[in-house]
Amino acid sequence: MEAFVTNKLRSLSDLPEKIRSALLNAERVVAFTGAGISAESGIPTFRGKEGLWTKFRPEELASVSGFLSNPSLVWAWYQERRRIIAEAQPNPAHIALAEMEKLYPHVVIITQNVDRLHHRAGSTTIIELHGNIEENYCIDCAAEYNSEIDVTEQQPPRCPQCGGLIRPAVVWFGELLPEEEFRRAEEEAQSADVFFSIGTSAEVYPAAQLPFLARTHGALLIEINPDPTMISEIAHLIIRSSAATALPALVEAIKKEKESR
Ligand code: OAD
Repeated sequence: MEAFVTNKLRSLSDLPEKIRSALLNAERVVAFTGAGISAESGIPTFRGKEGLWTKFRPEELASVSGFLSNPSLVWAWYQERRRIIAEAQPNPAHIALAEMEKLYPHVVIITQNVDRLHHRAGSTTIIELHGNIEENYCIDCAAEYNSEIDVTEQQPPRCPQCGGLIRPAVVWFGELLPEEEFRRAEEEAQSADVFFSIGTSAEVYPAAQLPFLARTHGALLIEINPDPTMISEIAHLIIRSSAATALPALVEAIKKEKESR
């Protein structure tokens, strides 16, 4: 099946009947999100022209070996990201996904983002595949570190139990994804009626295999991204626009059509 591609969706009647009815009759909806959904909240993405990984080296800032060789450089970088995230607000895309819970019985967010903006927007079922930037733990004994973090402090704190360095609870390159979260994400992808891939380059595995898994198990696959990705090759519907424009319009269109039935 050729993908239906649009820049702007005004009404569900613009869509092929198969897509329209899948959107109206779905019970299980999954939104798989990446850095692009938070771009319009002012949080930079990783890839692309202005992406973080064009200015910084991921092996220095997002790996255990990078952290151990220069803990203060890595800590200071995460402190800066924490400040940016603290000042950011959920944008209309996060809010539209939270609103979707009123339209379908089962809505799950599977996110690669560590910024917790889906929580702040009010989504209730969120699987975080790459951890989160709010929490921290000891790199030696793995004890959670629950003391307040002073975001101006450039040195990582020490673990009160073993004296080890405290690190952010994000997944770094070379690390395994949290097992239980990934298992749940696979189950959700396999049982989804509609699976959205939003604002992700789908380049980082194993997370990026989820849209493929959903598609193989029969989900209607929708991509929302201004640029093409590997997902564009297998999507049924592609909305080539920013998430904060596309999602509120789509949610509104679904709501209208459901109300008129
Ligand atoms: P990327 O930075 O790789 O990709 C962001 C995607 O968002 C690109 O495909 C952009 O075209 C798209 N995009 C940009 N602005 C957008 C907008 N306003 N609306 C919708 N889409 C937009 O980010 P991720 O795919 O999330 O890993 O990256 C995956 C992982 O790589 C991250 O979780 C992180 C990173 O290294 C870890 O931290 C482990």
